[in-house]
Amino acid sequence: MTKMRDFVGPYRLARLVRAGHSCFVWEAVKDETGERFALKMLKPDFVDSKEQVGYLRHEWEVAKGMKHPHVIRFYDFQTQHYAPFLVLELFNALNMKQVLREGPEPLAYLVDRIVEQVAKGLHYIHERGWVHCDVKPDNLLVNDEGEVKLIDFTIAQRSKRTLKSLLGFKEPVRGTRSYMSPEQIRGETLDRRSDIYSLGCVIFELLSGRPPYTGSSPNELLEKHLKASIPSVMVYNSNVTRECADLLRRVMSKRREGRPASMWDMLQEFRGVHVFSKKPKPPKVRLSELNVGPVTDVEALKQLPKAGSQDQPEEEG
Ligand SMILES: Nc1ncnc2c1ncn2[C@@H]1O[C@H](COP(=O)(O)OP(=O)(O)OP(=O)(O)O)[C@@H](O)[C@H]1O
Ligand SMILES: [Mg+2]
Repeated sequence: MTKMRDFVGPYRLARLVRAGHSCFVWEAVKDETGERFALKMLKPDFVDSKEQVGYLRHEWEVAKGMKHPHVIRFYDFQTQHYAPFLVLELFNALNMKQVLREGPEPLAYLVDRIVEQVAKGLHYIHERGWVHCDVKPDNLLVNDEGEVKLIDFTIAQRSKRTLKSLLGFKEPVRGTRSYMSPEQIRGETLDRRSDIYSLGCVIFELLSGRPPYTGSSPNELLEKHLKASIPSVMVYNSNVTRECADLLRRVMSKRREGRPASMWDMLQEFRGVHVFSKKPKPPKVRLSELNVGPVTDVEALKQLPKAGSQDQPEEEG
């Protein structure tokens, strides 16, 4: 049987957590101490890409000083090994997108707690002058105890107006279509209210199992964020109260002036409404027992670099 012995610097790669477009996320063990971390590492195809290394460096610059119970901790950024990587706090949890594939039921019981924690995490980063810009279920981790942590600062932006924006330059549009605010789609300067919009879309999906807008093409979807009438989540889940559905419609206002002014205001308003007419039951299965498909992508493992340098992953017979 093949046994992997994978080291990168002092870290032993123990388990592949996720393989995304440009990065692997590994569970890793620091050999001297036995401590466990998550390593977010560029895939071999991208190690020479200035752009991709730049995204990782940017993520480090944004998040390195942050310390909050609902924001994942960033400990280090290393570039001297075969692939650049970030060292993160390991949070043993599924991302919310994985859970929502099972429908909204497993999370219904936790909705109040989830919104509370996500809003507090986002409020913290807003107070530090950042807009996350990519608030979506994939970037929220939720564990069996209902604890939530915010991840992925790849495209976070400073919220203050920049000279560029004052001069009318537009930023390239980056973000995730199902959750992108109209101003983000238009490439305008963003502020915290853009994250409030995206969080509104996430709450909509938490309550209904589907994002507020769907489209048969990317452009159709973007058009809907810009122009379609704002859906009421009650249509998809009759157990949601009108006061909650109305608040959500306001949170997803097309114009940012129509939304709560800050994450804190949004949270206060959310605390003031009943979400469900009938309290949901606790889920029968633990989240970690949900069948969310393979988290270890075998194809991704094959992409590990071939033997060569000292800290190269090796295979033993
Ligand atoms: N600190 C962590 N602890 C546990 N799991 C994590 C951690 N960080 C990331 N993950 C897992 O890895 C996934 C991808 O992480 P992240 O969002 O940071 O990368 P990404 O840049 O979005 O990847 P992609 O290339 O797919 O866009 C997350 O959805 C989550 O499932
Ligand atoms: Mg992500």
